[in-house]
Amino acid sequence: MAIRNIRTEEDQILRRKSREVTKFDKRLFQLLDDMAETMYAAPGVGLAGVQVGTLKRVAIVDIGDNLIEVINGVVIKTEGTQVEIEGCLSVPDVYGKVERPEKVVVSYLDRDGIQKEVSAEGLLAVALCHEIDHFEGILFRDKVIEYINLEDVEEGQENQQI
Ligand code: NI
Repeated sequence: MAIRNIRTEEDQILRRKSREVTKFDKRLFQLLDDMAETMYAAPGVGLAGVQVGTLKRVAIVDIGDNLIEVINGVVIKTEGTQVEIEGCLSVPDVYGKVERPEKVVVSYLDRDGIQKEVSAEGLLAVALCHEIDHFEGILFRDKVIEYINLEDVEEGQENQQI
């Protein structure tokens, strides 16, 4: 495994759309393993392929209990709304309130190409929506309702960049 370089906002690749994954091979496994190492080292709770310079619809999320590898993820159901503070590893030290669905169901493929679904709420729902936005070249900044001063960010929250 290897830590990859996390691209930041000034890199225009973050604005490009990622392509669907069609090959579930060693190259993909290497990417996923490297992304996990990179995310945990940052530290963060989510990371999309484009953030390490790969325009593939792959993302990983771990809000502290379980690593999920979300390939070709699509939100297929939403319920309610929540407004939470978000940060992004590609937009360092910037935090803001974003409105997201309170609950989501995301359909995706795992690393073996098997179709899966995850039902999520709270931070996991936020993280999944944030990552799927990365697939489209959308940054959380585009959706911020209100920016939060770094000193007003709760302890621990700074480790929850997505
Ligand atoms: Ni992000």
